[in-house]
Amino acid sequence: MLDQEFDALLRDLAEQGFSIQDGLLPADLVDDLYKDALQAWQSGEFTPARVGHALQPQRITAIRGDTIRWLDPEPTNDAQARFLEWSEALRHELNAQFYLGLQRTEFHYAHYPPGAGYARHMDQHRGQPHRRITLILYLTPDRRPDDGGELCLYRPEAPSEEWMRIAPERGRLVLFRSELIPHGVLPAHRSRWSMTGWFRNDGVLLRAA
Ligand code: OGA
Ligand code: MN
Repeated sequence: MLDQEFDALLRDLAEQGFSIQDGLLPADLVDDLYKDALQAWQSGEFTPARVGHALQPQRITAIRGDTIRWLDPEPTNDAQARFLEWSEALRHELNAQFYLGLQRTEFHYAHYPPGAGYARHMDQHRGQPHRRITLILYLTPDRRPDDGGELCLYRPEAPSEEWMRIAPERGRLVLFRSELIPHGVLPAHRSRWSMTGWFRNDGVLLRAA
């Protein structure tokens, strides 16, 4: 892996708080992740996403209409293993550059059916103070320009003002500082697939037996 691989991404994050990267992950890996997501979905493993406090989540489709499938911390197939290896390399680079103390990641696949979106929000919401960097990788095959589901960023200094719209093109990777950037998903007009996750600065919680 070349050292320069993450240069543009890290520079963007430092200068503007977000980065949009096309083609950073190999196309065959994006394909395999999509197939993995689809298979999990066909096996009924996706569950409705919830909003609000981590300890008291609620399903409110008017705010958030996607269904998600969390990845296990240990990869269960080659595609996940390749992706997690790549994200670990990125985690180390983020720590080396920004001293973020990122200790772990968490990722889920997301599916937005037609009509579903996600209202403007912050990812560091109540109960999630340890999310520092958000990563989204778009997986939808054969996306057309009028399929909707754009990621909308709002201005950190004026959260009601739209900053930019980002089309969820297959293979496109978006990263941003979780505590900084308000964002939302415009309603999808066709099935929208993605992988979303966070680089976190807390360790693994040890659950009581
Ligand atoms: C999220 C989110 C954006 C997207 O899952 O928290 O904001 O473009 N996703 O999928
Ligand atoms: Mn979000």
